[in-house]
Amino acid sequence: INLFITDRQGTEHQVVVPTDMSMNLMEVIRSYEIAEEGTVGVCGGMAMCASCQVYIVDGAATTPEMGEEEEAMLSEAYHVKDNSRLGCQIPITEELEGLKVVLAPYP
Ligand code: FES
Repeated sequence: INLFITDRQGTEHQVVVPTDMSMNLMEVIRSYEIAEEGTVGVCGGMAMCASCQVYIVDGAATTPEMGEEEEAMLSEAYHVKDNSRLGCQIPITEELEGLKVVLAPYP
């Protein structure tokens, strides 16, 4: 699927991501080196750091509902907006085709 991810400097990256690798959005951002090493996925995808926070610009309806842990983390993280999600809580599925996100600042 095609994803559009804007990095922390404001550059948009179009990435083509396989859906059969059980990756999540945080892992995509890391493996495509869209952010500086060590600044995304700090907690390893446990919904405990918010370094993978993204703002969903387009395609929010295609993302899974927020779980309790994600909600709790976002209630105390910095830079949170109405369209904030944790990338590590969004598995890569076919439904996400065309999803557009902006990486939030961290810390
Ligand atoms: Fe830490 Fe997502 S990687 S909250």
